[in-house]
Amino acid sequence: MTTDVTTATYLARSFDTPANPFTSDGALRAEEVAIVVVDGVITERVPVAQAASASGGAPVLDLRADDGILLPGMVDTHVHYPQVRAMGGLGMPLLDWLERCALPEEVRLADVDYARAVAEEFVSGLVQAGTTSALVFGSHYASAMDSLFTEADQVGLRITSGQVLSDRLLREELHTTPERALVEGRDLIERWHGKGRLRYAATPRFSLSCTDSMLEVCAELMGGPESEVMFTSHLNENRSEVEAVLGLFPDCTSYLQTYAKHGLIGPRSVLAHNVHATDDELAQMGAAGAIAAHCPTSNSALGSGLFPLRRHLDAGVRVAIGSDVGAGTGFSLLQEGLQAYFMQQLSHDGYPLTPAHLLYLVTAAGADALGLADQVGDLGVGKKFDAVLLRPDGRSTFGTALRHARDDADALAKAFVLGCPGDVVGVWVDGRPVMQAA
Ligand code: GUN
Ligand code: ZN
Repeated sequence: MTTDVTTATYLARSFDTPANPFTSDGALRAEEVAIVVVDGVITERVPVAQAASASGGAPVLDLRADDGILLPGMVDTHVHYPQVRAMGGLGMPLLDWLERCALPEEVRLADVDYARAVAEEFVSGLVQAGTTSALVFGSHYASAMDSLFTEADQVGLRITSGQVLSDRLLREELHTTPERALVEGRDLIERWHGKGRLRYAATPRFSLSCTDSMLEVCAELMGGPESEVMFTSHLNENRSEVEAVLGLFPDCTSYLQTYAKHGLIGPRSVLAHNVHATDDELAQMGAAGAIAAHCPTSNSALGSGLFPLRRHLDAGVRVAIGSDVGAGTGFSLLQEGLQAYFMQQLSHDGYPLTPAHLLYLVTAAGADALGLADQVGDLGVGKKFDAVLLRPDGRSTFGTALRHARDDADALAKAFVLGCPGDVVGVWVDGRPVMQAA
C-alpha cells in the first residue's frame, strides 16, 4: 500500500465535457466511475466494480457518499488578486468604479504585510470556490507579486499572473516607467515563470493607462513564439472607455489595434470582456487565435453590456470565463456560468447555453485559453487529476433538488443554479488535495 497522496483511486459520480460542445455534438459525460490516479495523472477510468483490481493496492476513496458529484477543477481566466476586499461596490459604471473602489484598494498593496494578507485571502477564495487554475491580474507592485506567487506555490494552485503595468491616467502611486517595468518584469519572470505550476503573463492594465512605450515593454516581456509567457489585458468593456482609448491612439482604428500593433495579439493572449467588439476586431481575434474572457457578473454589476457570444463563436474566437473579482461578485465559476446563461437568455440572438456548455466554459475552455488543454480541463485518461467535489448539505435546497434531478444534465443544471462555495468539500491539483474531502 503506497503512502503517496497523489496516487489513489476515486469512486465518483463524475461529470465532464471531453469535447467542445460549441463545435461538435460533444455531449456531457456523466457516469459512476473509478478514476485511477498515479502520481497525479489519470491512468484509467474503469467501472466501479473493477476499482479494487485496478487500484494496484493504492487507497480506494469513495467520493459518492451523500450525493457527492465530481467535476474537473474549474479554470478562472480573469480574476484580480488585489481586489478581494473591493468586491460588492454596486451602482457604478467601470471608470467610476475603478476610481472609487478598485484603485484606492490596489494602492494599499504597496505595503508588503498588507499584500501578504490579501494574497492569502485571494488564494483561499479560489480554492474554496473549486478553482484549480487561474489567469490572475496581479498587483502594480513587484513586492506584492512575490507575495502572490509565494502563496500560490505553497498552496499548490496552477497560477499564471503578472505585475500590472500603467504609466498614465490612473494615479501616481500606481504608475511606473517603461524602464522600471522591464527590469522588474524580467526579474519576476526569472524567479517565478516555470516554477512548479506558476507562469508569467505580461499584463498592461488597459490601453487607457499605458503609453505605446509601455505596451512595447509588454511585447518584450512576452517574448517570441517559443516563449510561454502569456499576455492579458482588458478590451472593449465599456463605451466611455472605448471612446477614450480611441482618442488617445489616433493612429489606431480600433481598441484591439492598440495592442495588435505591438504584436500582443496571438494564441497566448487573453482579453477580458470584449462586450463592444466590432466585426473587424472579432475577425482579427479569430484569425490570431486570441481568447476572450467573458466575465458575466462583472458585466452585469457594472452595467457594461451583454456579451455577444454568438458573434465571437461565428468569428472563430475562443471564449472562456472569468470571475473578474472584484467587479465580479465572487469567486464561484458556478455563479458565473449561471449568469452567462441568463445573459444569453436576455440577448437578442443569444446563444442557448445548456448545462454541458456551462461546464465546458468553466473548465476545458479555460484550460484551452491558458494553453493547458493537454494537461487539465476534463477528467479523461492522461489528464492531471485537477478536480472539485461538491457535496450539498442533505437538507439544503441544492441537496434535495439534486436527489430529485430528472437526469444527469438536470443534475448538472442544479449545480450551476444552486451550488455555491459552501458546497465545495474537496479540491485536488495534480492529484494532491489542496482542500481535504470531508
Ligand atoms: N479595466 C481596467 N482595469 C480594470 C479593472 O480592474 N476591472 C475591470 N473590470 N476593468 C478594468
Ligand atoms: Zn478585470
